[in-house]
Amino acid sequence: MEIVLSGIRPTGNLHLGNYFGAIKNFVKMQEENQCFFFIADYHSLTTHPKPGDLHGNVKQVLAEYLATGLDPEKATLYVQSDLPEIAELYLILNMNAYMGELERVTTFKEKARKQPENVNAGLLTYPSLMAADILIHKAHKVPVGKDQEQHLEMTRTFARRFNRMYQEDFFPIPQAYNFGADLVKVPGLDGSGKMGKSEGEGNAIFLVDDPSVIRKKVMRAVSDAGPSEPNQQKPEPIENLFSLLKIVSAPEVVGFFDQQYNQCAIRYGDLKKQLAEDVIAFTDPIRKRILEIAADEAYISKVARLGAEKARESAAKTVKEVREIIGFRPF
Ligand code: TRP
Repeated sequence: MEIVLSGIRPTGNLHLGNYFGAIKNFVKMQEENQCFFFIADYHSLTTHPKPGDLHGNVKQVLAEYLATGLDPEKATLYVQSDLPEIAELYLILNMNAYMGELERVTTFKEKARKQPENVNAGLLTYPSLMAADILIHKAHKVPVGKDQEQHLEMTRTFARRFNRMYQEDFFPIPQAYNFGADLVKVPGLDGSGKMGKSEGEGNAIFLVDDPSVIRKKVMRAVSDAGPSEPNQQKPEPIENLFSLLKIVSAPEVVGFFDQQYNQCAIRYGDLKKQLAEDVIAFTDPIRKRILEIAADEAYISKVARLGAEKARESAAKTVKEVREIIGFRPF
């Protein structure tokens, strides 16, 4: 059975892009693979979150993961900082991570530009921490978006380097998990690019958004003056509205608006109203479940403890073996 691992930083609520772009596939994957899904709260320290916010943010992601169908019995659902073994493997990997290669990482350069007042060593060594996350469970597959491909490549470099250095075929070389035909790209509401929380207010629809908030966001989505000739190609903002419609609405609905567009009879107001209602029909049961689960402290604690226990078993085994390979011996 393949070991699949995915991490998410606890920096905000999950949106439709997270759901259709990844989580929906995780729900399927957990049936056929040994899955580890964790919340990367060590990683989030690189941007100095307030101590008062950290626990709540982690809890919120846990509640949202559970509400969307991740099953703590089938998969291992855990919080990164519950595994001190990760910190140990990170320290060890850092001894074979070189300044030059770390400084060349695109996300590091970007972050250093964005937060020049806080270019900390954790930002520089972000790839070794991520490698520790992946290698600690000897994962084979990691579902990652484009922005994380370079990090995964670094993980492969560190794994190969370790294997070569100690002449052992120890760490499997992890590959990107390819969703193939199940890959869904979810566009944002601002007319260009994908849905993302950092793309600005109103671009993303969060799973916890109230129906009234969703209606407002969708009605404000970028469109245009409408087609001027029949069957013309749709510009990006319009194509994006149709992509969203295809994700949440019935095929007849998509077909209807498509036809209206092609006949230059489309009313974007009507399309958006329908889109908003179809989004709400999908998100509202999830929103209610999130609120229910988030209020159930005992359940969340139980899930986190079970996850930590399962994850630590696998992590402790790897670290024990790594210590032996390196040459640490107990007295
Ligand atoms: N860096 C990832 C992100 O920002 C989160 C992450 C941390 C991760 N560790 C990981 C993802 C390990 C996959 C595997 O999206």
